[in-house]
Amino acid sequence: MAEVEINAVSKAFGKTQALSDLSLTIGNGEFVALLGPTGAGKTTALRLVAGLEQPDKGSIRIDGRDVTGDAPADRDVAFVFQQYSLYPHLTVFENMAFALRAPTRRVPEADIRAKVQEIARLLHIETKLDNKATQLSGGQMQRVAIGRALVRSPSIYLMDEPLSSLDAKLRGELRLELKRIQVDLGATILYVTHDQTEAMTMASRIGVIEGGRLMQIGTPREIYENPVNAHVAARLGQPVINLLPAALFGGAPAGVETVGARTEHLTIARSGGDVSATVKRVEHLGDQSHLHLDVAGRPVVTLADPEAGFGAGDVVSLRLNKPLFFDARGWRVAA
Ligand SMILES: Nc1ncnc2c1ncn2[C@@H]1O[C@H](COP(=O)(O)OP(=O)(O)OP(=O)(O)O)[C@@H](O)[C@H]1O
Ligand SMILES: [Mg+2]
Repeated sequence: MAEVEINAVSKAFGKTQALSDLSLTIGNGEFVALLGPTGAGKTTALRLVAGLEQPDKGSIRIDGRDVTGDAPADRDVAFVFQQYSLYPHLTVFENMAFALRAPTRRVPEADIRAKVQEIARLLHIETKLDNKATQLSGGQMQRVAIGRALVRSPSIYLMDEPLSSLDAKLRGELRLELKRIQVDLGATILYVTHDQTEAMTMASRIGVIEGGRLMQIGTPREIYENPVNAHVAARLGQPVINLLPAALFGGAPAGVETVGARTEHLTIARSGGDVSATVKRVEHLGDQSHLHLDVAGRPVVTLADPEAGFGAGDVVSLRLNKPLFFDARGWRVAA
């Protein structure tokens, strides 16, 4: 494993600026997630580190060595692709052993066997090693795709939304396992996703990327509690942060145009708050409810205790507690 440094890298495809001036260091043994919507430049960032694309500007260093001009094979990175592809005619074992069998590596057969078995155990697919890749469930195929990378000990694992094709339950399970494996192996991982839960639960640091620009990088807590702008604030948190005109509430610092209120910034009472709201709809999620409110014609969504007994048509009162403040351009203003 090694430290990987992306230094002021830009990349355009024709007229599309896929990445602009991206700088990011992934420390040895660190799990960094790039979080962003579709088209943000996430896959492009991984492909540049892998050497599958050349940057227009900037450089990439692995373990202190400038690899910008190096071919993918000379970079010692392992890639789990967004569209995972297994060799259908090979067994799970052979799929996982594939990279270790490269002629240049000359790994002894006994070592290959031991390594594949170790990783298959970690991924809970050890009983499937003799199956053809086609004789697996989607979740198992995804594990094999990850396993193919994990059998190697590269300088960095590059993972492109490796859990995205799974259902929610499997995704939750594999998320936990992948994190445990990363810690066990001391692996350095650059992981890209549009799923905030994956980023929050697995990454030691999250980079929020949008339109090819890195907007903020920090621990999940820093990003959640201290977003630099309204874009970043809206990336994390469920239900999504409510962005409301400051004029609705009064009492905001000078220069504040927008108030950002997450569930924890809102207290709902029958009366006595800062502003009145009408309950439009209550979505029952089981242990909690989503309360859809109308505040002076603006939609506001917050969580509520199902026991609180709010129903459509109720008029309630909202109180703000230490919300986030943003200026006219969406940048954060100190409270
Ligand atoms: N080979 C290419 N040729 C032309 N345009 C490309 C190419 N690869 C990427 N792009 C464009 O660059 C931008 C970033 O693409 P990228 O694949 O990095 O996004 P992404 O964040 O991985 O999105 P997704 O979440 O949908 O996978 C997009 O606008 C995309 O259309
Ligand atoms: Mg992508």
